[in-house]
Amino acid sequence: MRGSAAWFVFLFGLVRGFAAAEEPQLPCVPRDFGFGSVACVCNATYCDTLPTPVLPSAGRALVFTSDIEGARFLRTQLSFSDSQNGTGADVARFVLESTAFQTVVGWGGAFTDAAAKNILDLSPDAQDRLLSSYFSPSGLEYNIGRVNMGGCDFSWRTYTYADAEGDIPVIKRAEALAGRPLKLFASPWTAPKWMKTNNDYVGYGQLRTDMYQPWADYFVRFLDEYAAQGITYWGLTAQNEPIDGYVPGFFFNCMGWTAEEQRKWVAENLGPTLLQHGYEDVKLMILDDQRYELPGWAENVLSDPEAAQYVSGIGVHWYGDLYTVPERLTQTHDLFPDYFILGTEACEGATPLEVDVALGKWERLESYAHDIIVDMNHWVTGWVDWNLALDMQGGPNWAENFVDAPIIVNKEADEFYKNPMFYAMGHFSKFVKEGATKLGLASEDPKKLDATAFRNPDGSTAVVILNRSANDFEVVLDVEGRGSLRLEVAHRSLHTACLYRDHCDKTWLDRL
Ligand SMILES: *[C@@H]1O[C@H](CO)[C@@H](O)[C@H](O)[C@H]1NC(C)=O
Ligand SMILES: *[C@@H]1O[C@H](CO)[C@@H](O)[C@H](O)[C@H]1NC(C)=O
Ligand SMILES: *[C@@H]1O[C@H](CO)[C@@H](O)[C@H](O)[C@H]1NC(C)=O
Repeated sequence: MRGSAAWFVFLFGLVRGFAAAEEPQLPCVPRDFGFGSVACVCNATYCDTLPTPVLPSAGRALVFTSDIEGARFLRTQLSFSDSQNGTGADVARFVLESTAFQTVVGWGGAFTDAAAKNILDLSPDAQDRLLSSYFSPSGLEYNIGRVNMGGCDFSWRTYTYADAEGDIPVIKRAEALAGRPLKLFASPWTAPKWMKTNNDYVGYGQLRTDMYQPWADYFVRFLDEYAAQGITYWGLTAQNEPIDGYVPGFFFNCMGWTAEEQRKWVAENLGPTLLQHGYEDVKLMILDDQRYELPGWAENVLSDPEAAQYVSGIGVHWYGDLYTVPERLTQTHDLFPDYFILGTEACEGATPLEVDVALGKWERLESYAHDIIVDMNHWVTGWVDWNLALDMQGGPNWAENFVDAPIIVNKEADEFYKNPMFYAMGHFSKFVKEGATKLGLASEDPKKLDATAFRNPDGSTAVVILNRSANDFEVVLDVEGRGSLRLEVAHRSLHTACLYRDHCDKTWLDRL
């Protein structure tokens, strides 16, 4: 018995090895918390995974689906057909184009003090499963992490000097699980009180003009201290939400800047100071605030060559997206095509009328995926979520500004729950790689589906499609030289179709 079982395992391994050396995908353990869909439960011994898929051979495509009924990264294989039929009312047709747009920087979340504390509140094995879910090859493969420079609201006390209590070991473990360095960027919420006009962490207050240089020196000190711990930063934002500190009575850590003030400080203090200390390659992002400040903010800062020479990108938060058209992003790109635009913060449950933590709420996947698709279709190069993990209340947050997160930690049960938002991020981060090129996707789509397409550095293509309505219908994706792919797009579902480069004929590829 033993001998033949061993032979079977050996032969099976051999066959699998030839076919595809791929780990099995562990399914979601669903739990219904009464918010419309399910959250997936993970603990010290189990967590659902998404191993890096081996793409099928020419003529076939792999499609990953998540839906309100509980599917999470459910995989199906489809074949291309030559059929040009199906232009009826129930069919949405997309044509993959060879037009190349922006290059993808990537996807990630924030190592806030709250996230680090919540992660470290779990048992060591559960901690590993959580970090693995985001960063490892069997998880979402995030490549970006945001870190608060000094305290932010998602800290359990206000502070500015004692940076990074729990986050350094957590960042190091994330990088070890990722098997590569993350693109880390830091953002300050406020300077120390004594550097400010109002001598406070909160409220209407700005940096005193005689503190412009000491505050630039503080950035260098921050980068030096992390470097001494073996952590290298890829980027910086000049200030988290600079508008907040111009709002009277603003209730959490903030410091106000106008675009004109930020321009002057970058040109005269921050830029030259970073250069002088060998940090000129750290990508400096301006704004790090709502889309409605564009393109004005960028025009103000980047029209000054003294400031512009130190800047690499523009950070945008999503909180004003409902009432600001995305064309502002395109206008900004058209004015300053050499500067990348990156989504640097987003979260659900942020307004007072909403439930803070809504485990399993499908609408929150839809809002994430919709915003990402719209952003990527308007020159944004990637999207960084807010807290990597929060507790059952949506904190800790010293200012009681509780919100939701893709992963919620239940310390008492030593469990964590993956919200639909986690899968929303994964439908992009897992399949659209750093360095990918955004492709054109023409549509004859009476249904107004959200969709976007990318070509990865390895030549594979990923197409993401979201349907937020209650109707099921069919999508036909035409790929020149290959034929059509027909997808069943059920009500309330999100799909990523992965096509290998063989799916495109040589002449089409050569045009990219
Ligand atoms: C962890 O989750 C797995 C899968 O749901 C379950 O079988 C196991 O009992 C859980 N362990 C604990 C300690 O709850
Ligand atoms: C269109 O073509 C597909 C695949 O060839 C076939 O399964 C389907 O029935 C056709 N639909 C119509 C409306 O002709
Ligand atoms: C599918 O979802 C989009 C939004 O993603 C919505 O606008 C559209 O009406 C839906 N399509 C159908 C066919 O119901």
